[in-house]
Amino acid sequence: MHLQGSYLFLLFLGIVSVITASSEHEHANTTRATFNVLDYGAVSGGHKDNALAFWEAWNATCNSEAERSTLVIPKLRFLVNPITFYGPCKPQRIHFLILGKILAPKSPEAWRDFDPGQWLAFHGVNGLELAGPGSINGRGSGWWNQSCRYHPKLEGCTSLAPTALKVLSCQNSYIRDIHFINSSQAHVTIQGCHGIKIENLKIEAPGNSPNTNGIHIHSSRNVIINNTIIGSGDDCISIGDHISNIVISYIKCGPGHGISIGSLGKSGNVVQVENIHVSNVTLLGTTNGARIKTWQVGRGNVRGVRFEDFFLDSVKNPIIIDQNYCNVRGACKELTTGVQIRDVSFKNFYGTSRTNISINLNCTLSVPCTGILLKSIYLRSAIPGQNVTSSCKNAYGTAFGVVQPIPCFQI
Ligand SMILES: *[C@@H]1O[C@H](CO)[C@@H](O)[C@H](O)[C@H]1NC(C)=O
Ligand SMILES: *[C@@H]1O[C@H](CO)[C@@H](O)[C@H](O)[C@H]1NC(C)=O
Ligand SMILES: *[C@@H]1O[C@H](CO)[C@@H](O)[C@H](O)[C@H]1NC(C)=O
Ligand SMILES: *[C@@H]1O[C@H](CO)[C@@H](O)[C@H](O)[C@H]1NC(C)=O
Ligand SMILES: *[C@@H]1O[C@H](CO)[C@@H](O)[C@H](O)[C@H]1NC(C)=O
Ligand SMILES: *[C@@H]1O[C@H](CO)[C@@H](O)[C@H](O)[C@H]1NC(C)=O
Ligand SMILES: *[C@@H]1O[C@H](CO)[C@@H](O)[C@H](O)[C@H]1NC(C)=O
Ligand SMILES: *[C@@H]1O[C@H](CO)[C@@H](O)[C@H](O)[C@H]1NC(C)=O
Repeated sequence: MHLQGSYLFLLFLGIVSVITASSEHEHANTTRATFNVLDYGAVSGGHKDNALAFWEAWNATCNSEAERSTLVIPKLRFLVNPITFYGPCKPQRIHFLILGKILAPKSPEAWRDFDPGQWLAFHGVNGLELAGPGSINGRGSGWWNQSCRYHPKLEGCTSLAPTALKVLSCQNSYIRDIHFINSSQAHVTIQGCHGIKIENLKIEAPGNSPNTNGIHIHSSRNVIINNTIIGSGDDCISIGDHISNIVISYIKCGPGHGISIGSLGKSGNVVQVENIHVSNVTLLGTTNGARIKTWQVGRGNVRGVRFEDFFLDSVKNPIIIDQNYCNVRGACKELTTGVQIRDVSFKNFYGTSRTNISINLNCTLSVPCTGILLKSIYLRSAIPGQNVTSSCKNAYGTAFGVVQPIPCFQI
């Protein structure tokens, strides 16, 4: 039995529990192998591209006969062009240890022959442990300068820019203790993963950098995100479609757009998002606090979402459900379609709001929001002397212990 010696995921009650056996408990017979990128020709300094050296070190790590195989990036600086590390690998555990700094090419030109949507990617690697304490620096300002979001009139502006780290199709994986800096677009994207824990990350990009989401997850289940500090120009954490059993806790967010589910259902697709628990979140000067955003043309469900223990300082939209999203902002016609949003709770929200609608539940007539619980809420205006209100359209539920704003519905 290989119960000890690594990380075992127990799937019960729909929640992932990760047992990390500390090294002194490791099975004495676990075979190990270590591969250092310097032994495969990597050169530090930030001028020479090291993608080939990293790829060769990865090939050795992934094909090793050891049960636990480690790729080491020593405490130096390495420029690395776009690269994908493919699995499956032979060892049960693959440890990708970043002690130094990984730097992206500065110029978007470096992506000429590569997928502009990604920089570093892992594909189909199970039992991956991606660990710091080193950093991953996307040096994204060259992409930001040409982004259509902020330079719509620029000829050749780009809407798609590289995500710093994509983890695609994985199981039983772990990302921890890494410092992400200035990605060109999202910092971390998790897609097609079943059982992944993300912990102790620091993600840092300017508040005015375009689309630089902190962590984006979609098409995944059994995900834990814990103890993470995020400052960015977009959502700190965004949750896309086909998601279940997500536990997010101890997050500090700001600057940024908050914790967001959506936008969902853009192409009229059937949305399936359920069982999400977000707790112990501190939001500093963000655009949103807890948000669910769905397109009018979407179908399907968002259900079983709990947001609790939120502290908010000067947040524009502390609590917001917008089920009316459409292409024409502010001029959406009523449609009969919509994503059903139900069983959503907001509990223990304290702090201040930068607009005077601190609870905004904006749902459609044909597919109203039901089972909304508002409990123990005190959200004042960040502007002295201003009052805050709540606004509800086609939203039903109960409110309990909501001091401010006065909720639209009562028990
Ligand atoms: C990849 O690793 C295998 C196993 O270590 C080795 O036989 C093979 O030569 C490596 N391929 C390259 C291109 O380095
Ligand atoms: C982006 O634009 C700023 C301001 O114009 C400039 O200082 C900076 O060098 C540009 N960055 C890149 C990588 O082109
Ligand atoms: C991130 O980018 C901004 C803008 O280019 C720059 O001012 C800042 O120093 C960068 N951060 C780090 C840690 O390099
Ligand atoms: C999150 O981290 C805290 C502090 O390290 C720890 O007490 C808690 O058990 C962790 N939660 C999860 C779900 O891993
Ligand atoms: C959130 O933090 C509070 C206070 O530290 C703690 O009592 C509670 O258990 C935490 N909730 C979760 C889900 O970690
Ligand atoms: C609700 O959504 C509609 C349609 O997008 C929009 O016109 C309206 O301003 C929203 N109401 C609030 C209070 O945000
Ligand atoms: C805020 O509400 C109080 C009590 O209802 C009222 O007296 C006061 O005029 C309001 N202030 C503003 C700026 O609307
Ligand atoms: C909302 O805020 C604006 C300015 O920030 C103010 O003029 C308006 O009276 C406020 N509305 C309410 C209902 O307090």
